[in-house]
Amino acid sequence: MRYNFDEVIDRSGTDAEKVEGVKIFWNRTDLLPMWVADMDFRTAPFIVEALRERLDHEILGYTFRSDAWYDSIIEWLKQRFEWNVTREMLNFSPGVVPGFTMAIQQFTQPGDKIMVQTPVYHPFFLSAERNHREVVYNPLKLVDGRYEMDMPLFEAQIKDCKMLILCNPQNPSGRVWTKDELQAIAKICYESNVLVVSDEIHADLTFPQYRHYPFATVSEEARINSITLMSPSKAFNMPGLSTSYAVIPNEELCKRYAEQVAINSVGEGHLFAFLSVAAAYSQGTDWLHQVLAYVQENIDYMDSFLKVHVPKIKVIRPQASYLVFLDCRELGLSQENLLRFFEDGAHLALNNGAMFGANGEGFMRINVGCPRVTLEQAMKQLRDAFLTL
Ligand SMILES: Cc1ncc(COP(=O)(O)O)c(C=O)c1O
Repeated sequence: MRYNFDEVIDRSGTDAEKVEGVKIFWNRTDLLPMWVADMDFRTAPFIVEALRERLDHEILGYTFRSDAWYDSIIEWLKQRFEWNVTREMLNFSPGVVPGFTMAIQQFTQPGDKIMVQTPVYHPFFLSAERNHREVVYNPLKLVDGRYEMDMPLFEAQIKDCKMLILCNPQNPSGRVWTKDELQAIAKICYESNVLVVSDEIHADLTFPQYRHYPFATVSEEARINSITLMSPSKAFNMPGLSTSYAVIPNEELCKRYAEQVAINSVGEGHLFAFLSVAAAYSQGTDWLHQVLAYVQENIDYMDSFLKVHVPKIKVIRPQASYLVFLDCRELGLSQENLLRFFEDGAHLALNNGAMFGANGEGFMRINVGCPRVTLEQAMKQLRDAFLTL
């Protein structure tokens, strides 16, 4: 079956953060929303169908985690990543952010140091700060249009830390870390007694030229010293549903994580999570293949367009997902003026690169998980703004 990602669907009136948030955060209504990390495509139809069928029963009572939930996760991880996990390693999490927040609470103490690698999804450091942990910022290096880890600096900074929150694949840079890179981190962290919490929410959106390695699979050091957080929410476009889960092969860590889930009373999960995860993972391969191809074409289109019409903005080519970091430093604008340029000039609502850490200054993040015509419109607006700069 061919899915149609070209259709423009009006999201107004649905309380969509991406749409309504423009009024709230920008206080205006004339910006094209290309920020919040969900896609403007219909959620995969077999997921909607599974939910609809269940709704027809009309009793939405308390529900156990289904066998289908466990089995579909186990099968998906085996097929996609050659990762053999068991039921005992799995735990529900209301979200990946709540997942790493619970890990922070269980495995570190107030005042402990937690490393994040910037630019990075901002809740990594916000959650650590809100829990009164000290954040250690380990900046990634931009080398020939690709973000890399600065290993000597990493090694020096990690020594006093208790935890690394790893973004694998990385948001906003779109890097899919290689096995070698992950093995190097695993070794250093194991030897330094630093627990690795690996956020792998974008894993299923890895483009076919690259390979995602779940952190826990790269070595024995990684397996016994990690907590992996995953979810089909990004890939199948259902982040409003709270569908994530933790995979923890180390029994002791798994037990302690479960304790924290119990402390916060959030382990029960919910009916729609169990249904939607099972539907996504048991029927989703073809849909995912097609959506990835569409997103990649969007990125190709944007990259070619900007090279010709706005050459001072460079696309950092993502290896996974629909979030693209734009290097705008050649425009020579202060961050404040860069924001003005996108808002007042191009009429686009994008993420300010600086929100991902200090080294995100001079950058903006655009979400290209949208129909081509929406992206074409955005590019025209950007070109027009550039011409009058
Ligand atoms: C790296 C990363 N982690 C976590 C999340 C959000 O996860 P959740 O909605 O499951 O809490 C996002 C959303 O953009 C993300 O990019």
